[in-house]
Amino acid sequence: MAGTFAGKVVLVTGAASGIGRAAAIRYAEEGARVFCADLDLPGAEAVAASIGGSAGAIAVDVASFAANQAMVDAVMTTAGRLDVAFLNAGFYGAAQGLDSVDEAFFDRVVAINLKGAFGGIKAVQPVIADGGAVVVTASAAGLVGHPGNPAYAASKHGVIGLVKSCVDAFAARGARINAICPGGVATPMNGMEDAAIVPPGALERVKLRGFGNAQHVAEVALWLSGPAAGFITGQAQLLDAGLLSTFAPVMLPVGP
Ligand SMILES: NC(=O)c1ccc[n+]([C@@H]2O[C@H](COP(=O)([O-])OP(=O)(O)OC[C@H]3O[C@@H](n4cnc5c(N)ncnc54)[C@H](O)[C@@H]3O)[C@@H](O)[C@H]2O)c1
Repeated sequence: MAGTFAGKVVLVTGAASGIGRAAAIRYAEEGARVFCADLDLPGAEAVAASIGGSAGAIAVDVASFAANQAMVDAVMTTAGRLDVAFLNAGFYGAAQGLDSVDEAFFDRVVAINLKGAFGGIKAVQPVIADGGAVVVTASAAGLVGHPGNPAYAASKHGVIGLVKSCVDAFAARGARINAICPGGVATPMNGMEDAAIVPPGALERVKLRGFGNAQHVAEVALWLSGPAAGFITGQAQLLDAGLLSTFAPVMLPVGP
């Protein structure tokens, strides 16, 4: 099949839903053989079945290093190569501020979002193809604080540090690694329905500081992992319709 990713093998985590689902579909439309990995295996299988062809589904709990390794081994055994990994699985949970967050919630968020990204990166790096790329989903909450869910913000800040720290290891294999930092995205994570996938040129323009949809984010992941972005590595690309574009100071009363 023709397309930007013709002949390439692409692994997407969190592919059963939202951003990962949109990306899996779009990579396949661009010619890739796609592996849809998720904790939700039936969901990943449904996405792979909707793609058809050689698309496959893999069960993974990214919070486990062993499961990340088994996921990458499965791709290598089945397809013999790995060109792109979109490490996107993530967990927000029922937002808990500093007063209410407990140890179990903090551990779960960090295990999925930060340790999960690390486990994926560590398993992918030794086998990624020359010219390949990794994109890891961080968040706008990886760049600024989020008092409503500090565990989530801390995990996503960590993802960006991790990505920057792995640039040299990937460059040694002729590959790149970047993070993406979406602002608000209308997906099941936010209790919203996924929008239908459309030709990229038909994507709706997002109003200033509005919600994007999963495909808006997927298109950036495709571009950042594709040949047109060959000059870019070690970056945290914000895509937020201007959400963080302005400085919003808290005014203090005059006087001591
Ligand atoms: N939706 C937003 O507003 C938003 C904003 C910024 C960043 N993000 C990030 O984007 C990524 C995708 O989120 P989404 O909005 O598409 O959410 P989503 O809930 O629609 O999809 C997340 C997917 O990750 C999977 N998943 C969760 N825990 C897992 C685990 N331990 N192992 C494997 N898979 C697991 C889920 O089963 C689900 O299919 C996440 O990393 C999220 O933190 C989302």
